[in-house]
Amino acid sequence: MLQDRYGRRFRYLRLSVTDVCNFRCTYCLPSGYQAPAGAVPEGFLGAEEIAVIAAAFARLGTSKIRLTGGEPGLRADLPELIRICKQTEGINTVALTTNGYRLPKQIHDWHQAGLDRLNVSIDSLDRQEFASITGHDKLPTILDGLDQALSLGMQDIKINAVLLRDGYADRMQSFLSWLRDMPVTLRFIELMQTGDNSVFFRDQHLRGQEMLTMLVEQGWQETARAQDAGPARELWHPDYAGRIGFIMPYSSDFCASCNRLRVSALGRLHLCLFADQGHDIRSWCRDGDVEGLMQHLQDMIGDKGESHLLQQQHTGATRHFAMIGG
Ligand code: 5AD
Ligand code: SF4
Repeated sequence: MLQDRYGRRFRYLRLSVTDVCNFRCTYCLPSGYQAPAGAVPEGFLGAEEIAVIAAAFARLGTSKIRLTGGEPGLRADLPELIRICKQTEGINTVALTTNGYRLPKQIHDWHQAGLDRLNVSIDSLDRQEFASITGHDKLPTILDGLDQALSLGMQDIKINAVLLRDGYADRMQSFLSWLRDMPVTLRFIELMQTGDNSVFFRDQHLRGQEMLTMLVEQGWQETARAQDAGPARELWHPDYAGRIGFIMPYSSDFCASCNRLRVSALGRLHLCLFADQGHDIRSWCRDGDVEGLMQHLQDMIGDKGESHLLQQQHTGATRHFAMIGG
């Protein structure tokens, strides 16, 4: 079992399969993806390496793997990666975070490969605003893909929306009316400062708490949190098909319920989204050494810090989320 010195257990792995993204979200990659200077000789983790990672984590108690990026949908072998994770003994949930760009074309393959959970990023329901945030006029395509995912019977679909100051009241209204009939959970994520976005952050960061309080005044009720639920807080309302969640990393107890570890597409273990460095686990992956990797993971977990230091503007080595997966 992966457990740290603060008693937190890690049953949830977020595994990035590529750094590359085709979107240019204002808070993440405003100038688009740029390959890092210097060659990356080994490239991103291959299917066999991912099988080793999945097996080692599963044998240490991980039951859920989320594939993320960059944009994981850009990998042609994504269905195979989903299948590998799903077929790993001990893994019962395979989830995917995507910008939804290829959702209508690919959701059937992903679903068939064993995908259990889907998170799609939609920062605005206004077509023009969506295009100006992401650099792509793709909102209708993404909404079409979402409908297809629902008609495949996918449960517990989540929509991620980063809280941004400009125009937030209008966005909130349109999200609320959308949720009356949309059986999805909309999750507002507080904008986090990264190495690259500090000016944007100062300009656009909004706290979620006020909004949560306002929704409670309008009859939304907070759900009881399951023991292993992770840091999101969730609300429901009898008149709405959808739910609303908040991810508020700037609130004081956020890290106490941390249940996740991250592996980057280059095969580095990140104990926190804002860790100062990743720990290279690639040699075990390359050698197919599941037991060696398990031992190493158990040694590393002792280094996990109690909390990120975002309140102190400490963003670690994280220049933007596409590097490591949100
Ligand atoms: N702060 C908060 N959320 C972010 N995301 C990307 N960058 C940031 C940031 N700086 C979100 C994306 C996506 C999820 C994976 O992470 O919008 O929904
Ligand atoms: Fe946007 Fe996600 Fe791509 Fe960053 S990685 S540009 S947040 S879609």
